[in-house]
Amino acid sequence: MEYIRNHWYVAGFASEFGEGFTTATILEEEIVLYRASDGTVVALEDRCPHRALPLSMGKRIGDQVQCGYHGLTFGTDGHCVRVPGQRSIPPQAWVRRYPTHERHGIVWIWMGAEDAADTSLVFDMPEFTDPGWAAHQGEALAFESNYLNVADNLCDPAHVSFVHPTTLGNPDSEDVPVRARRHGQMVEISRWIRDSAPIGFFQAYGGFSGNVDRWHYYYLHAPCIAAIDFGSADTALALPEERRGEGIQIHALHFMTPVNATRTIDRWMHLRNTAVDDPTAGERISDLLRKAFAEDKAILEAVQRKELQPRDRPPVRVAIDAGANHYRRIVAEMLAAEQEVATAAE
Ligand code: FES
Ligand SMILES: [Fe+2]
Repeated sequence: MEYIRNHWYVAGFASEFGEGFTTATILEEEIVLYRASDGTVVALEDRCPHRALPLSMGKRIGDQVQCGYHGLTFGTDGHCVRVPGQRSIPPQAWVRRYPTHERHGIVWIWMGAEDAADTSLVFDMPEFTDPGWAAHQGEALAFESNYLNVADNLCDPAHVSFVHPTTLGNPDSEDVPVRARRHGQMVEISRWIRDSAPIGFFQAYGGFSGNVDRWHYYYLHAPCIAAIDFGSADTALALPEERRGEGIQIHALHFMTPVNATRTIDRWMHLRNTAVDDPTAGERISDLLRKAFAEDKAILEAVQRKELQPRDRPPVRVAIDAGANHYRRIVAEMLAAEQEVATAAE
């Protein structure tokens, strides 16, 4: 499978990394990660250039990694610093080093050309540091599914009524059309359900007694980040789109890390503009989302299984697929652009 490489992917939440080795497979590349003594996360190719033992089976010598087979030792930049039994270091004795960057409790890894690793491209949102908002990390959810299928689901408000009938949706939204727009490498898909009973989530969370206006804005940043803005406000307020922040608003963030053609890790978290000072609110919201994401997992893994089977005709496409169509087109363009650069370099 082809992947977009010049991109910051999530290697993990900051809490996943410590002194010991953590291993990860990202874009089919096996990587060993650890925190150096200065706190930065080092990410190296997990394969000794001598006889290919994973370096993660070796041990740390200070900030360096010593291979567990014959002791070749590598610095944090991936260069070999010691070959036991000889003085000289062969020039081929190095492992790939991946740039990393930590922000807001998330460790990002750059999978492309090292000189293109620009930290200003790391995903950010002003709500992370806004005192009117609280952030709460969820967990790493593994999907036995291609990341493209997971992304389709993350720009698809139409599935909510059917897959999440008791948590994030209700039947009132089944026939409400969705609006999909492309902005550069991002797709925005949205819909409003006006004057309808609050869904389970906002019954638990908004204290709404009457009908609400409810929105979903899916912002899918190709290839692998989705920020889903959903919320509700008292119908009497008749809030327009740009004032929805006056209602109760949640951003559910999904950071997809493609493992291989049939597996994706989705690290999710959320930001909220309600109950900001309530220390239990984050986990209670996570519990509701966890239930919904388990519903998505069942669907996506079944879809992946069926997709791998032979079929005799192409899939049907319908109006609600507009967002996913934009997304797939953007990914194809990004892949083509990377290929062009690679071909030119050759
Ligand atoms: S395989 Fe690593 S030192 Fe020999
Ligand atoms: Fe879903």
